[in-house]
Amino acid sequence: MKIGIIGSGRMGGTLGKLWAACGHEIMFSSRNPQSSAIQELLKAAGKNAQSGLVKEAVQFSDVLLLALPPEAVDPFLEEIGDLNNKILINATNRRDGKSAGTEVIRLAKNGRVIRAFNLVPWEILSKPKYQETNASIFIIGDDSEAKEVVSKLCKDINFDPVDAGKSENIVPLETAMGLLWKVFSPNFGRDYSFRILRRNQGI
Ligand SMILES: NC(=O)c1ccc[n+]([C@@H]2O[C@H](COP(=O)([O-])OP(=O)(O)OC[C@H]3O[C@@H](n4cnc5c(N)ncnc54)[C@H](OP(=O)(O)O)[C@@H]3O)[C@@H](O)[C@H]2O)c1
Repeated sequence: MKIGIIGSGRMGGTLGKLWAACGHEIMFSSRNPQSSAIQELLKAAGKNAQSGLVKEAVQFSDVLLLALPPEAVDPFLEEIGDLNNKILINATNRRDGKSAGTEVIRLAKNGRVIRAFNLVPWEILSKPKYQETNASIFIIGDDSEAKEVVSKLCKDINFDPVDAGKSENIVPLETAMGLLWKVFSPNFGRDYSFRILRRNQGI
């Protein structure tokens, strides 16, 4: 699968390297694709990775990972315009009280937006296993085919994808997880995770 990384920092850089390692073709986008940070990423990601400008990554990809800082998300979506039915994985959060999940759906023109990875600290993306089990990633979206694609991308990097329903669940999940983080982070810092135990694995 051709994956364009929009925001090749901690989240985007880490996920891109992991997906490149399992055979996906990655384009890391940047405001400066020649920067030393991007060259380091390319070296680490190996032969399946290349770099480009944001527009080039959008053109290149079947799937986009949106991992920009909050303040860069709306300008990106406004500038890029029609997403031509591409799958857009929204891993972003924001700090202005609005829901990052629903704002991206509102601004992404003709994008098949899936909410995923936003509840996972970047440090654990390469360490999904806790003791005997692997951490869950909650996936929300209205397009079931796009959800299947993102679910497979989670499995590729050894996470347990969990279908958390349609977009009306974005705000309840963001709110609930925000509260849970407040409860558990004083004890466990950032290196803990959630697993939904269920009889039927499904997604
Ligand atoms: N860090 C986490 O653990 C974590 C966990 C869950 C969700 N998130 C969310 O994921 C998103 C990315 O977080 P991150 O920690 O990966 O961020 P980050 O390390 O700062 O990386 C973001 C990248 O975006 C690019 N960028 C493009 N436009 C920018 C602008 N106007 N200002 C600054 N950088 C710009 C930068 O690359 P160039 O300079 O090469 O363009 C930068 O490397 C955020 O929305 C965050 O809330 C983060």
